Amino acid sequence: MSEQILFKVTIDNITIEVPAGTTVLQAARLIGGQVAPPAMCFYSKLEGSGGKCRTCLVEVSKGSEKDPRPMPKLVVSCRTTVMDGMEVKNITSEKVLDARAGVVEFLLLNHPLDCPICDQAGECHLQDLSFDHGKAETRYEFQRRTFKKHDLGKNIQLHMTRCILCYRCVYTADQLTNKRVHGILDRGDHAEIATHIEKSLDNEFIGNVIDVCPVGALTDKTFRFKNRVWFLKPMDAHRDCPTCSGRVTLWNRGDEVYRVTARKDQWGEIEDTPEGQPGWICNTCRFDKKEAADWIIEGPREISRQSVIAQGHYAGQIGTTKPTEIFAAVNDGRTPHLLMDIHDESEVNLPNVHLGKIQGPSNGDTFNTNNTHKA
Ligand code: SF4
Ligand code: FES
Repeated sequence: MSEQILFKVTIDNITIEVPAGTTVLQAARLIGGQVAPPAMCFYSKLEGSGGKCRTCLVEVSKGSEKDPRPMPKLVVSCRTTVMDGMEVKNITSEKVLDARAGVVEFLLLNHPLDCPICDQAGECHLQDLSFDHGKAETRYEFQRRTFKKHDLGKNIQLHMTRCILCYRCVYTADQLTNKRVHGILDRGDHAEIATHIEKSLDNEFIGNVIDVCPVGALTDKTFRFKNRVWFLKPMDAHRDCPTCSGRVTLWNRGDEVYRVTARKDQWGEIEDTPEGQPGWICNTCRFDKKEAADWIIEGPREISRQSVIAQGHYAGQIGTTKPTEIFAAVNDGRTPHLLMDIHDESEVNLPNVHLGKIQGPSNGDTFNTNNTHKA
């Protein structure tokens, strides 16, 4: 057996040895944490992915031991393989951080800022990327792109305005199904995800496009607007499925299963099964098995503490008990019939009280019974 050739690469001052042929991105992921550049289009489980979005740009400050010249331009780490002695800068390079901010600005040019109503909010890679590298305002003065609506069938919802054209869903359909019916039609500003013509995506494995989509362009119609991910409790579960690995994450509230997804690793990619195969799941597991009784629950899913999803997730304490509704309990058994607008009802807004004229902070005396202020 031939001996494996190992290359030494230093990323953000941390040196690691990796097999020849490893990409800079994969080497950085082996180091982990902030050293790993963000990736919006590369997906290690999809052959040919990467090289589209430019979020993974890095600076190569030393090409290799044999040729130590730096690379003249920033390179995409998901498509650049390491050389022996290579030195790479990611978060330690001002140039990289500046370029990444520019890439984020471009990605957001046409992306709607509809996170408050988007089902992907809380687990959107573009949201995370904007949080780390985005700016609070836009310099874009033109109208954002709009598209004719396409219906992709009963299970998958397409919001084309959110798509960043990463091609992951196209590779997924190519590699998991026997016949791809959707793709990127047209070019440039007109490029869009669509089918030709108005077909539905109904292959038994096509639901995986939802899991690979880094933004909210492809979402689960059976979960749409039902709940926010951070209010749900992710639980690892499995079933004996004749079609797929049957290893999933259930997104529960009480004993109600709101959503079923494949299990994802720390990079947001499909986790491997114990047999070393990518754990893609079938449509039956994803869309049709929405009863807790359909599954054998293994336990709470580990969620990174940085994720907003972790706020509703208490490892070790999650049962399948529905949270107690306390409104009626603290209101003598009454349920709300009428919701009042606090701005209409609050005395603070009474127009004869001029808060700006009050000396110091207001208190109960400011709003006395006849509502005249004492300032
Ligand atoms: S729909 Fe999602 S996965 Fe497909 S190209 Fe657009 S962003 Fe990528
Ligand atoms: S992740 Fe490398 S270019 Fe998109």
